[in-house]
Amino acid sequence: MTRTTVTVRPAEPSDLEAIMRIDEKLTAQTRKDYWRTRLDIAGLRPPWMSSVAEMDGRIVGFLFGWVGESEFGITGATGWIDMIGVDPAYRGRGVGQALVERFINGGRELRAIQKVATLIDLGQADVREFFTRLGFHHGPMIHMEKEIR
Ligand SMILES: CC(C)(COP(=O)(O)OP(=O)(O)OC[C@H]1O[C@@H](n2cnc3c(N)ncnc32)[C@H](O)[C@@H]1OP(=O)(O)O)[C@@H](O)C(=O)NCCC(=O)NCCS
Repeated sequence: MTRTTVTVRPAEPSDLEAIMRIDEKLTAQTRKDYWRTRLDIAGLRPPWMSSVAEMDGRIVGFLFGWVGESEFGITGATGWIDMIGVDPAYRGRGVGQALVERFINGGRELRAIQKVATLIDLGQADVREFFTRLGFHHGPMIHMEKEIR
């Protein structure tokens, strides 16, 4: 597929509607309060941790992450990607890759991260394939949880 230019820049509060529109396509949910809070938090963090991607003059993807130091017993600084989403109409054109690269470059330059990690749903084969293509592999940890009633 053609790879037209993708631009990655810090997410801003005014990106709310565009991010919500993409999220609605991915999750079938409208989460205005959720995204407003996420963008408020993003404003408190370094700009490279929360990005949007633009193509053809419109927002076509987003990535939100943070950096942890020795969290979960992992030594050193680790960049965690907790949300990534690309508009289905713009997939396969390098948008997701550009978002991850921006996050890794920012983390390496500004926080000296030695690792980048994420949690994915094993049922989402596309997301798993994407991260595998970018050089991620299945790590040694497992996710544990318990319902609280
Ligand atoms: C996973 C996702 C981010 C990929 O974005 P994308 O912009 O299409 O990915 P890219 O075009 O940058 O692809 C990068 C590499 O991954 C590969 N890739 C991407 N999606 C793939 C898939 N479904 N199967 C196999 N490979 C895939 C590409 O072929 C490319 O490899 P190449 O450079 O060797 O050709 C996007 O499909 C998405 O947003 N999925 C839904 C995620 C979601 O549900 N988010 C909500 C919860 S966080």
